[in-house]
Amino acid sequence: MRIVVTGGAGFIGSNFIRHMLATEPDCGVVNLDKLTYAGNLENLADVERDPRYRFIKGSICDVELVDAILKERFDALMNFAAESHVDRSIQDARAFVETNTLGTQVILDACRRHRVPRMVQVSTDEVYGSLGPSGYFREDSPLSPNSPYAASKAAGDLLVAAYVRTYGLPAIITRSSNNYGPYQFPEKAVPLFITNAIAGEALPLYGDGLQVREWLHVQDHCEALALILRNGHNGEIYNIGGKCERANIDVARHILRTLGKPDSLIVHVEDRLGHDRRYALDMSKLERKLGWRPRIPFETGLKETVGWYEDHVTWWTRIKAGEYREYYQKTYGDLSHVSQ
Ligand code: NAD
Ligand code: TYD
Repeated sequence: MRIVVTGGAGFIGSNFIRHMLATEPDCGVVNLDKLTYAGNLENLADVERDPRYRFIKGSICDVELVDAILKERFDALMNFAAESHVDRSIQDARAFVETNTLGTQVILDACRRHRVPRMVQVSTDEVYGSLGPSGYFREDSPLSPNSPYAASKAAGDLLVAAYVRTYGLPAIITRSSNNYGPYQFPEKAVPLFITNAIAGEALPLYGDGLQVREWLHVQDHCEALALILRNGHNGEIYNIGGKCERANIDVARHILRTLGKPDSLIVHVEDRLGHDRRYALDMSKLERKLGWRPRIPFETGLKETVGWYEDHVTWWTRIKAGEYREYYQKTYGDLSHVSQ
């Protein structure tokens, strides 16, 4: 199987490429990535010499480039490329609309033109909006995005659905819950909390910290995506959940306990604007139709993830020394009075 992976130098895309090369001997992968602040070729250092893998630097918004790539014959395109961080979308939404919405449209047109037999749009549970303490989002729940990030992803999803309906494009949408695991950029809550805790710095918790997320290990997500790539049905949407809901404050405390650090490192900071209270997915469709369910229990996966960040200090200290510092200061202000 020959596939184009877009956004393959990011967190989930790099884990997916590694998974495909490890499990499918006949697989060929072209990785198209713009290398934004979140894209990092170090994430794929172990496969860069694999003859089945090729990297192309460029944007999914570049019509000519995407067209030129798809002139070669591919069996599928998996679209991971995105601006992915909610807080950055609140600070400036422009790049989110460009990549997540317009970039998706560029890909859809190119897939149509070159008759790519399968397109998978990697989307998110955030397009459904926020839940109260009970209930779950199903694939047919209305889209009700609250952040600019979620709105730009929802717009991308709607375009995919429109191309399926209008042109019969063989596309599938997946919507997963919050991922965690190795190679996640340390602006997201889990790697931010882990790396700050290792460094003895404050863990900035938004508001009361009682917001709930459903956690999915990235390896489980990649396995589900590989299955959907092979056996999913065109025109369908599949929720991919981790079946594990946790309040943010419990995640922060668990990380501190794992590292032997005190709860006093948790600092309640001003809440995120428009902060969604709870996400939770009904993923019975994926279980029923394709027989998939997550394997990695959250506490096991989190312990391994903490270990990975302890073993890869150079990877994340390099990231945190760059553009990140400016972003961090702008988002949280000075938290240096709390340290240990
Ligand atoms: P990430 O931010 O770690 O990586 C995104 C990658 O896309 C980076 O390598 C970046 O360089 C690349 N990119 C950005 N703009 C591009 C463009 N115009 N052209 C080509 N490449 C571009 O994101 P992630 O966490 O790996 O998320 C991957 C996908 O999964 C996204 O579509 C996201 O919406 C979705 N998703 C993520 C989560 C999560 O918890 N991280 C959950 C559900 C869905
Ligand atoms: P995040 O990893 O940004 O994912 P998302 O917003 O896509 O769910 O955040 C996960 C949860 O953690 C979310 O409820 C926001 C919260 N959070 C904090 O409390 N502090 C932080 O510094 C960050 C980045 C997130």
